[in-house]
Amino acid sequence: MIAKLYSDYVKSDSRSFESDKQFITAPIYYVNGSPHLGHLYTSVAVDILHRFALLFGESFFSIGTDEHGQKVEQSAQRNKCETQDYVDSMYIEFYKLMNAANIKYDAFVRTSSKKHKDNVLNFWDKLCKKGDVYEGAYSGWYSTRDEQFYSEDEVSDGANGKIAKISNSPVEWLEEKCMFFKLSKYQNILLDYYKKNKDIIKPSSRYNETIGMLEAGIPDLAVTRSRFSWGVSCGEGQVIYVWVDALSNYITAMENNVDYWINDMIHIIGKDILKFHAIYWPALLLSADYALPKRIYAHGWWTVNKEKMSKSLGNVIDPFEILNKYGIDQLRYCIMKEMSFGQDGDFDHERIKNRINTELANVIGNLTQRILSFVWKEYEETLEINSIDENDYELLKCWDECLENSYSAMKEQQIHVYLEEVRKAAAKTNQYVDGAAPWKCDDANKRRILSVGIECIKRMALILSPVMPEMSKKILNILGCEINIDSWFKSINYRKLDKPSPLFSRIIG
Ligand code: ME8
Ligand code: MG
Repeated sequence: MIAKLYSDYVKSDSRSFESDKQFITAPIYYVNGSPHLGHLYTSVAVDILHRFALLFGESFFSIGTDEHGQKVEQSAQRNKCETQDYVDSMYIEFYKLMNAANIKYDAFVRTSSKKHKDNVLNFWDKLCKKGDVYEGAYSGWYSTRDEQFYSEDEVSDGANGKIAKISNSPVEWLEEKCMFFKLSKYQNILLDYYKKNKDIIKPSSRYNETIGMLEAGIPDLAVTRSRFSWGVSCGEGQVIYVWVDALSNYITAMENNVDYWINDMIHIIGKDILKFHAIYWPALLLSADYALPKRIYAHGWWTVNKEKMSKSLGNVIDPFEILNKYGIDQLRYCIMKEMSFGQDGDFDHERIKNRINTELANVIGNLTQRILSFVWKEYEETLEINSIDENDYELLKCWDECLENSYSAMKEQQIHVYLEEVRKAAAKTNQYVDGAAPWKCDDANKRRILSVGIECIKRMALILSPVMPEMSKKILNILGCEINIDSWFKSINYRKLDKPSPLFSRIIG
């Protein structure tokens, strides 16, 4: 066995990661019903991407509630409430969910706030000044549930009247005077732009879908409504179409720092709202002379027993209930690991339980507990690495590779790839401890193996901190480490240890 000095390893392997910046957004959620698993999922995904980026550089994270539009107004009426009172009470549900799931946003935009309404009017003004808004009359199909217009070939006959083919939502025939936005003017501009910049819209299936929609042709968009008043009024009995209102929340979120963040916009959305983000929003941005997003990533849908989770089917999963049942960190990890980011996935309690028991309790939890309690029993203090042998070196290299691979995966929003990298490195570390069997060694070797073990746990906690912030904080506090990437390359400060306690308990039954 070749003994190496740890300091040489650190010197030869210190990598520098480019310090980057991003403005990352989650959708703003409709307040016509309580939050469900889908809302939790997107929020957690963005939170993880945000916290991961913060390890290396700057990130700004916005989220919020979409409180205008006919759908919300009708919900308030059904609940026999003043609309503002209704949205105030529903907003609280979403706000509570963010706390319950440990979502660390920088801006929470409520569209019924004065700040946002002023911003919408300002944005509207830019579109008008560009000459992209004109008066006309709309006649066609509208779905309130989807808050969107459909063309004749997008609707079909349902049991109780016409429905939108794509969503099965009821549509009604609308004829009203309204303002139009010259969306068609941007069709070829966007088509050219996306063909030259193929990696803006991800995954590639969504890129193809967008190109398909643009090639099929996009008519001008009716951007005001007059049949109801719950929205931002632009005069003459018209309110601004809820999607123009909602999309501009991303500008509201940036406040006075638009110039600083606008080139670094990353939108994370569900695939249900691709058209709005990949076509309408970029066209509106071009019209208002803003830069285009650098990434639009559309993830898949949660299903329950293979059916899309929806309120009308009555199969929605309550996010508060499962957070409570499984634990915040545990659930954050499991829902992200459960499906490839971009694909659909089925929610299944058995699989969540299994994952907590195998990946969290048996691998990550067990590894941490066996090393820390061993060190605590034998030495009562942290151990610094001095010399390392070939196996130690291999293991430390494996964590460095894990960091590099995770970093590149997360640049591409491949959250599941990153999580699997970490799980593999943790499993390897467990095998290393089994093989090295410190309990059989003399004191010098015991110290060496355990010091390497502590270093690996530190790295595991650091790199998992975006996903399981509380678990990580617990470990890093014990080791006295800051949550940033410098800690990866710094040796652990000497500490007296407290008796460690298990991180995750197994779920029985
Ligand atoms: O569309 N699986 O709001 P919304 C995964 N206000 N994610 C899901 C999901 C599911 N079954 N169901 C919903 C709106 N989501 C608009 C957005 S943005 C300027 C305006 C997630 O309350 C997913 O992110 O219907 C989806 O895009 C979002 O919730 C839609 O939430
Ligand atoms: Mg929806």
